[in-house]
Amino acid sequence: MRTPIENIEVFKKRRQVALDKLGSSALIVTARPEFIRNDDVHFPYRQDSNLYYLTGFEEPESILMLLPGKKAQTVLFVRRKNPERETWDGFRYGPADAQTVFKFDEVYPIDEFEARAVEMLKGYDGIYYRLRKNAEMDQKVMGVVESLKYSQGRTGLGLISIHDADEFLGEMRVIKSSEELHNLRMACEISAQGHLSAMKSVRPGMSERQVQALLQYEFMSRGSARDGYYPIVASGNAATTLHYNFNDQPCKDGDLLLIDAGAEYNYYSGDITRTFPVNGKFKKAQLEVYNHVLNIQKQLIEMVKPGVPFRLFHEKAAELLTDAMLDLGLLSGRRADIISAQLHRKYYPHGMGHYLGMDVHDTGRYVVGSKGEPRPIEEGMTFTVEPGLYIPAADTSAPAEYRGIGVRIEDNVLVTSTGCEIMTQSAPKEVDDLERLIGSEPTFK
Ligand code: GLY
Ligand code: MN
Ligand code: MN
Repeated sequence: MRTPIENIEVFKKRRQVALDKLGSSALIVTARPEFIRNDDVHFPYRQDSNLYYLTGFEEPESILMLLPGKKAQTVLFVRRKNPERETWDGFRYGPADAQTVFKFDEVYPIDEFEARAVEMLKGYDGIYYRLRKNAEMDQKVMGVVESLKYSQGRTGLGLISIHDADEFLGEMRVIKSSEELHNLRMACEISAQGHLSAMKSVRPGMSERQVQALLQYEFMSRGSARDGYYPIVASGNAATTLHYNFNDQPCKDGDLLLIDAGAEYNYYSGDITRTFPVNGKFKKAQLEVYNHVLNIQKQLIEMVKPGVPFRLFHEKAAELLTDAMLDLGLLSGRRADIISAQLHRKYYPHGMGHYLGMDVHDTGRYVVGSKGEPRPIEEGMTFTVEPGLYIPAADTSAPAEYRGIGVRIEDNVLVTSTGCEIMTQSAPKEVDDLERLIGSEPTFK
């Protein structure tokens, strides 16, 4: 028997919170599909964040139903035990053990879902379900929705309404509980240690892939099961490609190295970016760009406190970065005109940050009300602060000394009652610290 990675009572409590909010609707959450890489070889499996959030159950081919008001309110469908498959793929709980270990009212084999779910869903006004995350499960759920309609006879009533479960659960996940904060702080600290290790070990001539391996070694050595997202290890001009994933070039003497990498810990992800010189010493032009981004990032972090609308951070970042572009001679004109014409997006094409949690771009609404008014941030929210400036080598309109420089600095913050906690403090970003630490430790052979 495998032991779940977290205390099962936490998940049971979350199910109760969801049940209390559902009213006269039921909730269905399905596992993510398994993806085949080739033949009978799979990509590593990771459970759907929402299913994990409510169950702690990590197996594919599972479905959760929350049924407020019914005798059995929490029902899980799982794969049957199968000694032959378990010889190849590993342990499966099966319905009986899943019920005992994960504490559901009822657990059934997944092949009984369609036959049982129709009866279970009778009497509800609607179903919360997220379509198009798992095509096979969509087929099953839509089959049940149709059977439910026909089970009512010739009433003329339509199909039961489907609401988006991701928005419903996204709101539950947007303010982090103490258990979630424990996991997220761990993810942030492990991520920071990975960055620190990469900084200390990097040398001119090392490949981006070696640096990636150093990060991942540190993450996994410290208890991370996997990355929160594929690491970006971008040296030189590659840093101006926002989601550079090739990681196959040599880190050259004199270039900057931008690393955007985060470890996942118990399904929560860090998301840190650091940019530093491969050889340990900033050149003048690199330092100018770096200091602009660093000062702006600090100003944005200073702004974090409950009540500030999330959109204001985006607006402030655009203003401050446009000022930096003017100062560096990348653009000319009036700040307001530049922003209204979106010209600043040439060198800063992304947003200031995003919610962070089980998913690196985490769930939760950024707006309130039907008109989409900006949402004020609240205590317990966690998000990234990640301004950047990216000047492609091929941009002949930029001053020559800045071409090929990309700088992003990204930290992860928790909103507290009076300001914020920076959960990624252990990853250095001050120029003096970076220049002292880079290359200060022996590298792996
Ligand atoms: N690592 C992706 C991002 O920063 O949004
Ligand atoms: Mn980010
Ligand atoms: Mn990032």
